[in-house]
Amino acid sequence: MKILLIGSGGREHAMAWKIKQSPLCDELIVAPGNAGIAQIATCVPIPAENIAELVALSQNEKIDFAIVGPEAPLVLGLADELCNLGIPVFGPSAAAAQLEGSKGFMKDLCKKYNIPTASYERFTDLNEALNYINKLGAPIVIKADGLAAGKGVVVAMTLDEAIAATKDMLSGNAFGQAGASIVIEEFMDGEEISYFAICDGENLLPLISAQDHKRVGDGDTGPNTGGMGAYSPARLMTPAMEQEILENILKPTVSAMKAEGCPFTGVFFAGIMVVNDVPKLLEYNVRFGDPECQTLMMRLKSDLVEILYAAAIKKLDTVKADWSENPSLCVVMAAKGYPGSYTKNTPIRNLETAAKIDGVNIFHAGTALKDGEIVSIGGRVLGITASGSTVTEAREKAYAAVDALDWPEGFCRRDIAWRALSSDAAK
Ligand code: AMP
Ligand code: GLY
Repeated sequence: MKILLIGSGGREHAMAWKIKQSPLCDELIVAPGNAGIAQIATCVPIPAENIAELVALSQNEKIDFAIVGPEAPLVLGLADELCNLGIPVFGPSAAAAQLEGSKGFMKDLCKKYNIPTASYERFTDLNEALNYINKLGAPIVIKADGLAAGKGVVVAMTLDEAIAATKDMLSGNAFGQAGASIVIEEFMDGEEISYFAICDGENLLPLISAQDHKRVGDGDTGPNTGGMGAYSPARLMTPAMEQEILENILKPTVSAMKAEGCPFTGVFFAGIMVVNDVPKLLEYNVRFGDPECQTLMMRLKSDLVEILYAAAIKKLDTVKADWSENPSLCVVMAAKGYPGSYTKNTPIRNLETAAKIDGVNIFHAGTALKDGEIVSIGGRVLGITASGSTVTEAREKAYAAVDALDWPEGFCRRDIAWRALSSDAAK
């Protein structure tokens, strides 16, 4: 097959690395890709949001199978357009991508089909929103309805914060149209896990769990980021917990999406909050998590292309996914200053030496090749990913690779997987 993969992050580098190992893959084109992906595939400089050019590329290159990494092109209808041309595609239709594209859609679906999630109301009117906030009290969570580059959620610990966030969003100042409608919901106190499952509209193929680290600083301090590191499996994931997530959350969602006339094809990324041992749905994303995906790809023993293609052609019941028992762990290296402003175009050296450490893969995100050197061009820049027979071993390898790099302008958290390592569960 000639495969087109869309995206440019660490998630896509990890997927490209697995796709290239598939006997089904004759050629891999990635749009737009990054400097790491360019070492293993052909990169075409079309941004992931440029639907028209991606469609034209798929036709001109006679693509046999398209795999969409990020959410934006899905919400914009890329999968629909490719399907209409008869090109099999992994990723949901625009209607089904509303699970991530509209928090209100996702919450209403949960309410209608009894899927456990935080209680909530939707608002477009400021006074009504403020009344609700005053009634519920803090802590309370304010969410922009639409896509806001992962920044549309404010967990307000005080009423003042909640009121300020609500005014900011509804006025259009914070996120434009994406914030013109909001969800206000109950604060859930618990531990988060990311759980993944693939769907072909009908059949569900459970994958595995991971745990992200969203705050920029050690000990979960400082502002939120896209994710500073992950490990798999998440420490709270037991067979019983997995069953509960599948039976109470994912399977009802598959039926609900069908019943609503928008069957879901692609990967469910369920953000789960475990509250007193009970899993509740925080949110859905319609793509793999980044950096969770890097840890998943390291553990997947099966052929990724076979699985994703089976989902695209609605034959998911014919495949299974085998996983390594060995845990994996990804440390994200970001440019100093991230998630605030940061410098670009700083050279990253010793990548090859670091990648030689046994069990380590370095997945690129915001990198480019300039004058023969790899330089940083984004906030999150590298995902140093390792597997080991224990979380401790995977972590030691990943940080050994971090320490082998020569990139003074970069930084990382030093405590990835601290929850797993502070309990006995994953040792
Ligand atoms: P997101 O940016 O949508 O991935 O989510 C932002 C983060 O906000 C989540 O990962 C949670 O940490 C937090 N969050 C979202 N909803 C709630 C809630 N109802 N209770 C507590 N924390 C929440
Ligand atoms: N790591 C969280 C996300 O991909 O949204």
